Amino acid sequence: MSNHNHSPLDLQAIRADFPILDQEVHPGKRLVFLDSAASSQKPRQVIDAMSHYYEFGHANVHRGIHVLSERATDAYETARDKVQHFINARSRREIIYVRNATEGFNLVAATWGRANLVSGDEIVLSVMEHHSNIVPWQILAAEKGITIRYIPITPDGQLDQAAYAEFLRSGRVKLVSVMHVSNVLGTVNPIREMAAQAHAVGALFMSDGAQAVPHLKVDVQALDVDFMAFSAHKMAGPTGIGVLYGKRALLEAMPPYMGGGDMIRRVTLEGSDWNELPYKFEAGTPAIAEAVGLGAAVDYLNTLGMENILAHERIVADYALDRLYEVPGLTVYGPDSDKRNGVAAFTLKDIHAHDIAQLLDEHGVAVRAGHHCAMPLHKILGVAATARASFYVYSTTEDVDVLVEAIYNARKVFTR
Ligand SMILES: Cc1ncc(COP(=O)(O)O)c(C=O)c1O
Repeated sequence: MSNHNHSPLDLQAIRADFPILDQEVHPGKRLVFLDSAASSQKPRQVIDAMSHYYEFGHANVHRGIHVLSERATDAYETARDKVQHFINARSRREIIYVRNATEGFNLVAATWGRANLVSGDEIVLSVMEHHSNIVPWQILAAEKGITIRYIPITPDGQLDQAAYAEFLRSGRVKLVSVMHVSNVLGTVNPIREMAAQAHAVGALFMSDGAQAVPHLKVDVQALDVDFMAFSAHKMAGPTGIGVLYGKRALLEAMPPYMGGGDMIRRVTLEGSDWNELPYKFEAGTPAIAEAVGLGAAVDYLNTLGMENILAHERIVADYALDRLYEVPGLTVYGPDSDKRNGVAAFTLKDIHAHDIAQLLDEHGVAVRAGHHCAMPLHKILGVAATARASFYVYSTTEDVDVLVEAIYNARKVFTR
């Protein structure tokens, strides 16, 4: 593979770890999976860890005094430690298992938001946010009479920092919630600087780590974010589990999200007391096998090295941008390559994104088409939909070549 010469990753070995990649999806067409931003594939190490858990270690956690329950609890909690170190949280109590990034946003809006915000307060989001970082705040805003301000973007797809600074001057901003890496534009936002600016006016800062944690070293202490949400399934882990990181003092002060088993210390018919962190926010039987899978995914990414992963994805993404820019009539959205990460959303003159995706599929190429859960951003870009190619640890420059060749074929079909 041509990028062997430049990539710090051993692509042949990595691709052998992902059994799903080794298949034809149409006669003579190997799978070229370029939809990892929607959900990444899983290496054998993750699949095996989950199977092993079910074959030898399953029982409910935190409850039974028997070997299997202790084993399951240990596996579930060890995965939490791995996540803690992966994002450099101060304490394992700051790692709350949720279903996905979406649940992380909903949890903060429903607990911290309901308890702390009053009519007239302001929340700052951006126009490039994923719906999961917009809708929970809109629900809260309707309930509480708070105002949401959206940071606009510059023509090259970066956050308008002058507008952000202006919003913060109102003196009413209580929370800023912004994505670290855009799932459409690929923009890597200056989260550390933006968090510092929010703190300077007494506001909290939440980051959407869904497209950052899988791809680059995210250190929550260095970034000094107050909350961060991300999903396991985009970082080589399973679906059904994600993480809400929160600073301990904030989580301690927040009311619980859901009530039920495990999140209580004591229940009487008159009322209940809450369990300590992180269990206060983990009501009911959790996703145990999924936590095991998440822990295995963290191990897998650590073995590759986050710096190497980032360097590899930059090589593939830069190559993709260069090749896509060559295609007549093709527009790639987002900033220059030094300010972006591994996604390339594009439109092709006169051809609907869904038609492109369908024609690419005929060549075995899996890309996503639509608004990518960012309808407001697409409205601003002036398009209803884009096609998006996204890259991960197993993506190669050969994948990009197949993509570009398939795009040329799609053009031919439509210009016949
Ligand atoms: C930037 C970003 N934020 C949040 C999410 C939501 O992730 P999930 O659907 O796993 O909750 C996604 C998923 O597409 C995303 O790309």
